[in-house]
Amino acid sequence: MGLERLGECGWQRGEVYFWAVAHDLPIDMTLPRALRLQQLVQPLEALMEGERSGWANLANAAAAVFSATGWHWVGFYVVDQAEDNLVLGPFQGPVACTRLFRGKGVCAAAWERNQTQVVPNVHDFPGHVACSSASLSEVVLPVSNAAGEVVAVWDIDSAEADDFTAADVEALEGLTAVVSKMWNAWTWAR
Ligand code: SME
Repeated sequence: MGLERLGECGWQRGEVYFWAVAHDLPIDMTLPRALRLQQLVQPLEALMEGERSGWANLANAAAAVFSATGWHWVGFYVVDQAEDNLVLGPFQGPVACTRLFRGKGVCAAAWERNQTQVVPNVHDFPGHVACSSASLSEVVLPVSNAAGEVVAVWDIDSAEADDFTAADVEALEGLTAVVSKMWNAWTWAR
């Protein structure tokens, strides 16, 4: 069954709807999810190269992945050096916890271990912080600055159990590498 055009940035095939992430970031929604994420790397990098505000760039990065996947929650927690905890940054999805603390939860584990955390079932992760009861699986990727210090984490939650394939995680690591590479060029005052 073919794709039918729906307005400027949507398509429909039978009962299934597809949409473009944005005019600037056209994604083929018929591709498998991991390929859609891979397809985002170059256009997202180009979009972020044109803007020096870290807040604006993190907001677009979260929006791009959220729109391309339909995952439940996609966003950033930024390391608050002064308070030594993680503070909520730009995100898409339901209202979330504003602060996360060392030693508790998946985001803190990614921060403290400087290692991607893939959690197929959040109920099996000791200390998991449940900002939304709808989240069943989660992946958290550390974002580093040029010195290799973790400066933020990219947190993605799914309402499906065991929803993150190895291909998804690899593609997300590619996107995270772009954010890390650009981090030092960004400003945070505005
Ligand atoms: N589940 C995370 C907390 C953040 S929310 O998922 C948005 C954690 O355990 O760190």
